[in-house]
Amino acid sequence: MARLMTYKRPKDAKKTLRRLARYLGGHKGALALVAVMVVVSGLANVTGTYLLKPVINQFIVPGDLPGLARAVAAMAVMYGVGALCTLGYNQLMVRTAQKIVAQIRGDLFARTQKLPLAYFDARTHGELMSSFTNDIDAVTEALNNSFTLLIQSFVVVTGTIVMLIVLNARLSAIVIAFLALMLAFILYNGRRGRQYYAQQQKNLASLNGFVEEMVAGQKVEKVFNHEEADFEEFCRRNEALRKAGTKAAGYAGMMVPTVVSLSYVNYAVSACVGGLFVLAGVTDIGSLSSYLVFVRQSAMPLNQLTQQANFLMSALSGAERIFAMMDEEPEVDEGDVTLVRVRQEEDGSMTETAQYTGRFAWKCPAEDGARLVPLRGDVRFHDVVFGYTPGKKILDGVSLYAEPGQEIAFVGSTGAGKTTIINLITRFYEIQGGSITYDGIDLRQIRKDDLRRSLSVVVQDTHLFTGTILENIRYGRLTATDEEVMAAARLANADSFIRRLPEGYNTMISGDGDNLSQGQRQLLAIARAAVARPPVFILDEATSSIDTRTEKLIGQGLDTLMEGRTVFVIAHRLYTVRNADAILVVEGGRIMERGSHDELLAQRGRYYQLYTGMTQLT
Ligand SMILES: Nc1ncnc2c1ncn2[C@@H]1O[C@H](COP(=O)(O)OP(=O)(O)OP(=O)(O)O)[C@@H](O)[C@H]1O
Ligand SMILES: [Mg+2]
Repeated sequence: MARLMTYKRPKDAKKTLRRLARYLGGHKGALALVAVMVVVSGLANVTGTYLLKPVINQFIVPGDLPGLARAVAAMAVMYGVGALCTLGYNQLMVRTAQKIVAQIRGDLFARTQKLPLAYFDARTHGELMSSFTNDIDAVTEALNNSFTLLIQSFVVVTGTIVMLIVLNARLSAIVIAFLALMLAFILYNGRRGRQYYAQQQKNLASLNGFVEEMVAGQKVEKVFNHEEADFEEFCRRNEALRKAGTKAAGYAGMMVPTVVSLSYVNYAVSACVGGLFVLAGVTDIGSLSSYLVFVRQSAMPLNQLTQQANFLMSALSGAERIFAMMDEEPEVDEGDVTLVRVRQEEDGSMTETAQYTGRFAWKCPAEDGARLVPLRGDVRFHDVVFGYTPGKKILDGVSLYAEPGQEIAFVGSTGAGKTTIINLITRFYEIQGGSITYDGIDLRQIRKDDLRRSLSVVVQDTHLFTGTILENIRYGRLTATDEEVMAAARLANADSFIRRLPEGYNTMISGDGDNLSQGQRQLLAIARAAVARPPVFILDEATSSIDTRTEKLIGQGLDTLMEGRTVFVIAHRLYTVRNADAILVVEGGRIMERGSHDELLAQRGRYYQLYTGMTQLT
């Protein structure tokens, strides 16, 4: 079945090819061997057919049976070699192609992990996934088939045309005319079909996107009684897809029968004219037999040649997208300050140690050996200016400080910029102005991995991975023992609900924890952060879905955990942060107020309004 492909032409095919060649370069030997075997199999095919002429003329017509047997044996060897080569290059190519693609996939994934969050903000999941699925598939397909088929079709088409001319130059005029006609048809049909194919793909994507949204938004659809309206929308998109699909398949389906019919006519005309030539004594019967087999064989490789060229183009544009993603600027990390474990000596000095002592220090490289700065958890913002997108400031000159061991709470209305401040401490995004220091060291000087190791964050939109509960909690620190994991779970008050699950800690979590309640997911996230034993804790709305009684219980657990640690808490339920050392009220990207609960209440400002539930109207 002929397949029509859409392909967006690669923008810079040469550059992409060169880049792809670098991946192929690692497998030069295998690819060269493949090419040789493809050429041999193509030539064996062409030569085998050509041999019909001497076989008929020298052995069949004169009736030389022993000679015929020898010649047939020779032909059998020839075809045998061809078949072996075909088998050989197919196997070798499949293996090589898979190796190359696995390597590209690996590089792409490694690269994706290094991309800054801003890159993901600007793209849909679908777009990113499409590189891993569609684009990689296109490259695989091309490597698996197109590489060999292109060489093979080329060898066979050229070989056939040469042989036709050698066998009978005058007769080949007919064939070449037909081949030209077929080529013209293939190109024309391909172009028309591709338009509809492109339309079909677009409609398919739109239908799939719709279905995906409906599946994800099932509850909302049902609760708002949107089934009927959504079904109508689905039917509309379905119908558009049907129309485009019919046209596209129509063109695709026309290709092979038309080419085959043309080749039959070609064959018939060649046979008639050739027969007349033989009768007139212009050519011999051996040449004609061999010639006619060539005519029969000529159509398919031509078809293949054009089709593979399309596959190759779509692979190139896929590869181009993959490489573009690999070329994205990775997260900048110019930091050279690292986090190390230290032991406090009796004289008060610190020495680096491999053991977990609960004490950490920043190791700052200096000319006269490294300097150790104790990790205290002192975080300061100096006039920080930041926006997610250029030209739209979210934080406008934020200054704040968190002293070691303090519990700092951020409160403020929705969209005020609380999570944004956290995103800057973890250095998910780069600030545009001002500076942030951590224990007196500029955040940019600290190696990102180490910075993040010093923090444990329960993010607002927490995520659980497919795996058991045990594995999900251990995600916080892979070396944690089962006992430590369970201790963390007890601390987060998650232990009792986990034990009630049918398989306890070994219960599988699927689809981002769909089989758990929202609050249970948060408990797991807290346990995960606790097991990491970090010097600095960040809890962004970590208990927003947890009942108030459990929240209090967690509070007690967290209090033990927080001892001696710097903690940042974001909470909408203000009573949970009443005991914080400092409460910062964030409003419109600025720190409006700072103080303890009592101080802020006494001020009767914004905090007072938030706490007493009064709005600005009052
Ligand atoms: N990834 C992002 N890209 C662009 N804008 C963003 C992004 N994340 C947040 N914003 C914008 O930044 C502003 C502050 O958002 P932020 O998440 O910091 O608010 P918040 O104080 O944490 O609110 P909430 O209490 O609802 O969690 C909002 O106006 C939001 O629209
Ligand atoms: Mg938030």
